[in-house]
Amino acid sequence: MSEEFSMLIPHNQTENDVAFSRGMETYFSHSLGTNMDKLRNFTKFVPRQALSQFLAKNELFKHVVNIHGHIIECGVFLGGGLMTWAQLSAIYEPVNHVRRIVGFDTFTGFPAISEKDKGQNPDYAVTGGLATRAYEDLQEAIRLYDLNRPVGHIPRLELVVGDAIQTIPQYLQDNQHLVVALLYLDFDLFEPTRVALETFLPRMPKGALIAFDELDQAAWPGETLAVLETLGLRNLKVQRFPFTPQLSYAILE
Ligand SMILES: C[S@@+](CC[C@H](N)C(=O)[O-])C[C@H]1O[C@@H](n2cnc3c(N)ncnc32)[C@H](O)[C@@H]1O
Repeated sequence: MSEEFSMLIPHNQTENDVAFSRGMETYFSHSLGTNMDKLRNFTKFVPRQALSQFLAKNELFKHVVNIHGHIIECGVFLGGGLMTWAQLSAIYEPVNHVRRIVGFDTFTGFPAISEKDKGQNPDYAVTGGLATRAYEDLQEAIRLYDLNRPVGHIPRLELVVGDAIQTIPQYLQDNQHLVVALLYLDFDLFEPTRVALETFLPRMPKGALIAFDELDQAAWPGETLAVLETLGLRNLKVQRFPFTPQLSYAILE
């Protein structure tokens, strides 16, 4: 297990879960073939939970493919979600050179945890929690992504670095044309989620999607509180997929 992110092992893991993670670390490094062979045979290695999340995001993307506008990833962390939207866009709409997938993150972790975020938080719910070197790492992921898709000379991904409480309003200021088709809320925290909802909602047409990573989660009450304070839950039909527990979404009417 990578030391850097071992803090992310949830507390509710069983011995089998821990044995699976440890076993997979070793198996992946020692398994047959080159790294590319392993990646092409990814179903041998990828945890079922990650595959389920990917399938759920695929369903969201299939809805959004017919909705005009950008995809906004609120909280990038290591970039798995961001690159999911990027890959799906390259697969389903290779020539859509208008769509951008925009990721917001400090890349230095949580700027602050407010009173509204206090709940049954995990240990990494502290200032600086989830800090990564992902910004530099993602530059190479994006370069390779662009090599492997049609119209790769027109960028499809943007990373916006800094505290989203400031960078989100600034982004709108700098991009007066912005329309949002999918707002993926995964900051974990109240204040940036509130700012994202207040800033982007007026730019979302009917049929656009808001997706929630932490709605109704005791570990991160801030996301639910931000939704209550902006949209209100009574105005939303919050739906989910039976095969993945965390993700929920609503189609704007
Ligand atoms: C749960 S992670 C995001 C996971 C990511 N969506 C994925 O698919 O793996 C939450 C991220 O939100 C970022 N974050 C939280 N508050 C923020 C803020 N005010 N401004 C910018 N980024 C913030 C953290 O740095 C962290 O990387």
